[in-house]
Formats: sequence, structure tokens, C-alpha cells
Amino acid sequence: MSNINPNTEQKIYLAPIQGFTDYSFRAAFASAFEMPDAAFAPFINCHESNPKMFRDVLPERNEGVVLIPQILGNDPERMLKVVNELQQMGYNEVNINMGCPYPMVTKKGMGAGLLNQPEKIRQMLDVLTSRSDCRLSVKMRLGFQQANECLSLIPVLNQFPLSEVIVHGRTAGQMYTGEVDIEMFTRFYKELKMPVCYNGNIFTLDDVLQLQQKFSDINRWMLGRGLIANPLLLHEIKTGERADEANKIKAISSLHDALLQQYETRLSGTAHIFNKIKPFWEYFSPAFEGYEKALKKIRKTEKYEAYLAYCNELFSSKLKSI
Ligand SMILES: Cc1cc2nc3c(=O)[nH]c(=O)nc-3n(C[C@H](O)[C@H](O)[C@H](O)COP(=O)(O)O)c2cc1C
Repeated sequence: MSNINPNTEQKIYLAPIQGFTDYSFRAAFASAFEMPDAAFAPFINCHESNPKMFRDVLPERNEGVVLIPQILGNDPERMLKVVNELQQMGYNEVNINMGCPYPMVTKKGMGAGLLNQPEKIRQMLDVLTSRSDCRLSVKMRLGFQQANECLSLIPVLNQFPLSEVIVHGRTAGQMYTGEVDIEMFTRFYKELKMPVCYNGNIFTLDDVLQLQQKFSDINRWMLGRGLIANPLLLHEIKTGERADEANKIKAISSLHDALLQQYETRLSGTAHIFNKIKPFWEYFSPAFEGYEKALKKIRKTEKYEAYLAYCNELFSSKLKSI
């Protein structure tokens, strides 16, 4: 059993991962597993301005899911318009992206490109919080170039009634690799007045248990790649019981099949289905160490029947070896 204080409710969130954790993923995950306490949708770019921008968060595509849409932008007026539209769709909370590290985004002063501009953030939050009654939260990194940039944001963020701040403890330059800066994360979150959610590199139950010991005043944890790689991780965290390897492989297989089912319904043509499903193997593959040849066949094939056969072969030979 875990040694988490059972009196403190632990909230687990699904991270937004553009291209992966969209409505098909959420439906697939929900069909096979217990859902996290909330799922954050990959960002909606407020500068796009077309009806398709809302397709991932349409309520009819997200039934039964506690979904928090996320917006990306740097123009408060445009962002306000999108927040209002989301509210009209029935959402009462919207998350603001201040963490996207891709140069295409940061060059325009959006995502993590905002983090070294405290005054810009202040203006943006001022407009959004004073002219909308929608609950707002922020998802951010520690900095754009330097991890200590977050320290200048403490007085700015504390000025506003944010429902929570989700912190991924890296700079934009680190993208998604390298060490999470636990020391800077600690200096930062201790000064924030609103609830803080920890995000970054939670891959196992032990990762969470260690973090929970270190940060006993945090009870919100956002999981991204770790939950795709091990769909039972949420259950492990909620119950404190470790899943055995065979069950983890079966869970990956169930998630894979549920995803395929979603894509088969939604997309036409093998190429489109492959474009969606094959990237998941980046996250599934660490569970199949020593099966590189089989994984290569899965990645390379252009034929649907062969793909299914290779996947079946991989899952069953891995299960037999356990
Ligand atoms: C391919 C990819 C796309 C992502 N898209 C988004 C996004 O749309 N919005 C966002 O806030 N974070 C996005 N992230 C960051 C994740 O939400 C999360 O912060 C990051 O993966 C670290 O958490 P993890 O180690 O649990 O995966 C993305 C990450 C990856 C790898």
C-alpha cells in the first residue's frame, strides 16, 4: 500500500498532448480504464479563428469526460473571445497555455514564449479575469530560457484568482527531456497562493510516491506520457497497488485496440489511421525491450492486415515470455 495520507484527496489529471490525447484518445481510454479526475485538452490556438478549432472539445465528443479546454495565445481580446465561446459551449473552466516550447509558437510570444514577459502576462490575466467569470488556470514551465524566470512571475500570478497553476519543471529549451528542476520548482510553488499541480516525468508509482513525500502539500498530479506508456498507472496511484507486468502489457494492448476502434470509426483509409496510431508506439515501445525487430515491422508496414498481425504477434509473444 502507498503511504499517502488517505485523508488528502489526490487528484490525477490527464496532460494535454497535441496529436495524442484528443477526443478519440479520451474516448478510447474511458472505454477501457478508469478516467483521471480531469482531462486537459490539447491547446486551441486563439489566432486560428475558424469553427474547426473547437472540434476536439465539442461536448458531444466528450460525453462522460471531465474536460478542461486549453487556450494558446498572446492577445487578451482574442483569448477572451475564445473563453466566452467555450463558456457558451458549457465549460466553466479554461486553462491557459504558458508552456508550449516549440519555436513556431514561442517566436510569436505565445506558450513558453510568454514566461520572460511578466508585464505581458499581467495584462493578459487582468483582461481575462476582470472581464470573464469563467474559472481560469495556467499550465506553465519554469522559464523560457532560464529556470529562474518563474520567480519574477510569483507576484504577477498571485494577483489573480486562478483556480490552479500546473507546473512542468523544465525550461522551454529542455523541450521534454533532461532533468526536471526540483529545486527551482520548490522555490516557485512554495510562494504561490493558489493550488499547484505538479507535472513532469511521472512514469511509475514510485515516482509519484517519492514526489508525494517530498511535496506533502501538493495533491494534484498531471500525467502525460507515463499514462500512455502504462494505462494502469492511474489505478496504481489511486489504490497504491502495483500492477504486474502481464497486466500492464494487457492494458497497453487494450488501449491500442480501443484507439484503433476509434480511428477506424472516425477516419477513412489506412494511411490516416496509421498517421494516428503509429506515433503511439514511441510511448508503448519501452515495455517491449528486446523486441526491436517486431517493433520495426509494426512501424514499417503499410498494410493494415499485416499491421494487425504484427501487433498481435508482439503482444502474445511478450505475454508468453512473462
Ligand atoms: C507531443 C507533445 C505534445 C504536447 N502538447 C501539449 C499541449 O497541447 N498543451 C500543453 O499544455 N502541453 C502539451 N505537452 C506537454 C504535456 O502536457 C506535459 O506537460 C509534458 O509531456 C510533461 O509531462 P509528462 O512527463 O507526464 O509527459 C505536450 C507534450 C508532448 C510530448
